[in-house]
Amino acid sequence: MEAIHKATVIGAGVMGAGIAAQFANAGIPVRLLDIVPPGATNRNALAEGAIAKMLKTEPAPFMSARAAKLVSPGNIEDHLGEVADSDWIIEAVVERLDVKQALYAKLDAVRKPGTAVSSNTSTIPLHLLVKGQSDAFARDFLITHFFNPPRYMRLLEIVTGPRTDVQLAKTVAAFADLKLGKSIVNCKDSPGFIANRLGVYWLQVGVIEAIDAGLTVEEADAVIGKPLGIPKTGVFGLIDLVGLDLMPHINASLEKALPAGDAFHAANRDLPLVKKMIAEGYTGRKGKGGFYRLNRAGGAKTKESIDLVTGAYRPERKPELPELAGAAKNLRGLLASPSKIGRYAWRVVAQTLAYAASLVPEAADAIPAIDEAMRLGYNWQAGPFELIDKLGVDWFIARLEQEKIAVPALLQTAKGRSFYRLEGGKREYLGTDGAYHELVRPEGVLLLEDIKRVAKPVLKNASASVWDIGDGVLCFEFTSKSNSLDGEIMSLLGKTIPLVKAKYKALVIYNEGHNFSVGANLGLAIFAANIAAWSEIDKMVAGGQQTYKALKYAPFPVVSAPSGMALGGGCEILLHSDAVQAHAESYIGLVECGVGVVPGWGGCKEMLGRWSTSGLLPHGPMPAPTKVFETVSTATVAKSAAEAQELLFLRPSDGITMNRYRLLADAKRKALSLVENYAPPKPVELKLPGAAGKLAFTLAAEGYRRRGIATEYDMVVAGELAGVLCGGPADLVDVVSEDQMLELEREAFMRLARTPGTLARIETMLTTGKPLRN
Ligand code: NAI
Repeated sequence: MEAIHKATVIGAGVMGAGIAAQFANAGIPVRLLDIVPPGATNRNALAEGAIAKMLKTEPAPFMSARAAKLVSPGNIEDHLGEVADSDWIIEAVVERLDVKQALYAKLDAVRKPGTAVSSNTSTIPLHLLVKGQSDAFARDFLITHFFNPPRYMRLLEIVTGPRTDVQLAKTVAAFADLKLGKSIVNCKDSPGFIANRLGVYWLQVGVIEAIDAGLTVEEADAVIGKPLGIPKTGVFGLIDLVGLDLMPHINASLEKALPAGDAFHAANRDLPLVKKMIAEGYTGRKGKGGFYRLNRAGGAKTKESIDLVTGAYRPERKPELPELAGAAKNLRGLLASPSKIGRYAWRVVAQTLAYAASLVPEAADAIPAIDEAMRLGYNWQAGPFELIDKLGVDWFIARLEQEKIAVPALLQTAKGRSFYRLEGGKREYLGTDGAYHELVRPEGVLLLEDIKRVAKPVLKNASASVWDIGDGVLCFEFTSKSNSLDGEIMSLLGKTIPLVKAKYKALVIYNEGHNFSVGANLGLAIFAANIAAWSEIDKMVAGGQQTYKALKYAPFPVVSAPSGMALGGGCEILLHSDAVQAHAESYIGLVECGVGVVPGWGGCKEMLGRWSTSGLLPHGPMPAPTKVFETVSTATVAKSAAEAQELLFLRPSDGITMNRYRLLADAKRKALSLVENYAPPKPVELKLPGAAGKLAFTLAAEGYRRRGIATEYDMVVAGELAGVLCGGPADLVDVVSEDQMLELEREAFMRLARTPGTLARIETMLTTGKPLRN
């Protein structure tokens, strides 16, 4: 097998269905099979039901409606023979060895030799799975352990056996990386592999230490959360999310599989409270609630949490923990504090990090695999070895010795040193051999994080930096809070344009934040509005327009590369780029109407230009404004790059990168491909319907208001938007230039900004993060 064109997933449960969806998201046709339910008239009911359910699930497993059509449902009695044309067969059936082995024997009889077969097992070792299977089967077999939900969790653990064909495993890994967007971590064939082996231990220790110390769940989660760079769900919140009922199964399986001396056994205590909760249906968020719940009794919605001693629910209490102030910056301080909280933090951190160090080389060849598994499998900001480096290896060893906790061999090896170091501009990690080895990124992976470690910015101010990413390409990085856009960013862009023109070939706009940009800095806007500094706001709008226009017509290629949210002004910068290379997980939209304004940095103008030249609409002045009005007045956000393409926030020719790590390299390649014979785009001349068109939109919006879909103030905002999109108040507008469009955007923006309804929307967004429906 050289490439993967078709796949089959067997088992249409939570994981199988989600994995099938991710193949479909990658554009690969995939068959999804399950058993025939006893007595069923519809023999495909399970797989069909799983697909139907996914179409209603949030966050969505499918990236687009088109992707969903690539999954075909079936059953293992009627359709198993069809696997012969699959290049990769993934087994995701119940976690039972006998069931899996029986299925493999049946599969081996019908599959084409040389096609990959993998199991999604989370606990069963590979050597047991292939026991008794043919040699040919063992050669084509491996474990591919996806995380839940498969679309969004970037980690993929791969285990191969001594008989697994090396080339076949490489093909599978390359496909999973490039097409499914996963980061591959190679694991040894040891119980729980890496992420769950360490993750389950960490959670177990987090729970028992909290109970022993007499902490509340809120206190425990506040400690084992933000200060450690761990998601705020902490320990108890995470167990609620994963499901309490899974805990006993995974613990029992690790208890059975791990050797007698493993530290897990001491932590794996029976927890009567957890047993009782599961028995009563408190299995977490999917059940009636878990350690936390929303009590809806009496029509009210009260957030409650469980008392770890009495097992009774009580209203949630925000913990007051002075120890945590500044703890993220001074972790040693927290871990050395003799208070109850400090002791708890130390006990959990010490045992977890020591356990991590004991897993090399048993579960992983080297430390980067463990750090990556915890970063991507559990969303830790820093992996365990990065955390130890932060604390200082010697400090950590001394504390362990002081507290009579065994110091693992690998930690001894690191004594007097650190687990990672920078040497000659290269990042290196400490191996079990006591030597440092270069951390080599895979071919086609370029990270700004790596460049920033060794280089100085070419330009920089308080909200942005510019980096030389090689081959004549500069990278513009937002560094403001949530990458919101402000005057500093516009000013640095203004300086970057002549610099690229003079000395470089192309510009890439990219950053490694969670979100590309949440849009204009609303805090600044409201500040200016509150002191009636209207000319400042006007300057902000006009300044942004001029900067984006200069980007669009710059004499070199500009490629933007978003990941996460690209909203408002963040979307408008994409619209003004020559090309976009988007991470598949990009959430793009013009959301201005939600805060009571209209897109004012050329968003209306660019969207009209796209739709009117798209060839997708009938002729005439109305269709393009209608399309844009539908999308923008409702503040629609595309929930994937594929959806953004359907809404024309991205062009059909824009690229999509599945693997986040590959985004910058792909964007740079795209920018360089545009350099030869580059010519800036030609301005678009718009033919718009004028006042008559605006009237049509206003009538339509009035209909929405009467049906209760649009609010009073929506009408005001929609009216202004319609005015801009129709080309202004003139009766019959012939041709509207880009500059005229910008003028219309700016005037409408300023009229709205001076209106109390808009200010109320902005204030609410800033204080609650939610739109106000006034
Ligand atoms: P699930 O219980 O949601 O789904 C299992 C599916 O397999 C069911 O639809 C069942 O009807 C089907 N099935 C049972 N026997 C079958 C057979 N002989 N042929 C075809 N289909 C059969 O289970 P889930 O959670 O999706 O787990 C599946 C696998 O993935 C297990 O090995 C599990 O350990 C692993 N896993 C689960 C994760 C999770 O978070 N749920 C995460 C990572 C791995």
